[in-house]
Amino acid sequence: MPITILGIESSCDDTSASVIQDGVMLSNVIASQAVHEAYGGVVPELASRAHQQNIVPVVSEAIKRAGIKKSELNAIAFTRGPGLLGSLLVGTSFAKGLAASLKVPMIEVNHLQAHVLAHFIKESPDDEHAPLFPFLCLLVSGGNSQIIKVNAYNNMEVIGQTIDDAAGEAFDKCAKVMGLGYPGGPVVNRLANEGNSKAFTFSKPHIAGYDYSFSGLKTSFLYTLRDRLKEDPDFIEKNKRDLCASLQATVIDILMNKLRKASKDLGIKEVAVAGGVSANSGLRDAFLDHARRYGWKVHIPKFSFTTDNAAMVAITGYYKYRDQDFCPMDAAPFSRVTI
Ligand code: KG4
Repeated sequence: MPITILGIESSCDDTSASVIQDGVMLSNVIASQAVHEAYGGVVPELASRAHQQNIVPVVSEAIKRAGIKKSELNAIAFTRGPGLLGSLLVGTSFAKGLAASLKVPMIEVNHLQAHVLAHFIKESPDDEHAPLFPFLCLLVSGGNSQIIKVNAYNNMEVIGQTIDDAAGEAFDKCAKVMGLGYPGGPVVNRLANEGNSKAFTFSKPHIAGYDYSFSGLKTSFLYTLRDRLKEDPDFIEKNKRDLCASLQATVIDILMNKLRKASKDLGIKEVAVAGGVSANSGLRDAFLDHARRYGWKVHIPKFSFTTDNAAMVAITGYYKYRDQDFCPMDAAPFSRVTI
């Protein structure tokens, strides 16, 4: 009998549902919320309302596209956290209702673990690209920057993480002060491709171990803008490409330095990247460069699996189902949880 899992993701501003059967993705439907663009960031209350509107059609569409009947589902996996509480509540409550009506178990999924396990999603039965255990995963998103040692599907250790801002926040906040809109990461990436990454120098942190810090970079970026704007009010407009290229290069340098150190110290050359910032073309190039220079076997996700999606929730649910790792019906969402 195949194992068929429905995954539901609602932790931030994407409502998504996916069906995975024996590790193979049958559908992955994502409704992104454009409502936040006008505000320069995600507005939690608007996000939960949009999830409420989207969740029924998104789940129905995922089941339809998968070509299965609801009665074939073995379990409902849902993101329990971390994320926005109101948003998580919509997905969690829906999962409970559906699981109760179908009389199937529920599986809680940690959003961060799901980003890591996205590397195990198969798009066809003979799709064999998954990393081998143990591997290192650089998880970089709008809210997290972590180096994770992945020992098994259900065994992950965070060996380094940001002590302040996340890498995505560095992109988003610097983009915001340059008036580039939200989310800033993709815009910075696009402009960076046309600029000189050596034009400006921003400060890099000096902290022990594998931890990250991005707030110093942000401050030094702001100071550069402040000083140069005094001399030339058009400084940003004239230099935005070089500013973006230098910012992006600094973020990537900070990320790769610690990852290289972890790989060397632990003797692990199987290295993956996950999360929204892994869409960054400079970071992807840096991974390919490290593969050539240090003999790493790198794993870079498809663009569609870098941002929030339910396929990563469903695949995590699939592996937890194999361990019969279910959660009680009264499971409540958490805004903050670590791996
Ligand atoms: O994982 P994710 O979709 O969601 C949350 O963390 O909630 O990550 C979103 C982050 C944002 O900070 C966004 O600016 C960043 O990923 N991002 C990028 C790129 N695409 C998205 N950062 C740099 N370059 C990109 N191409």
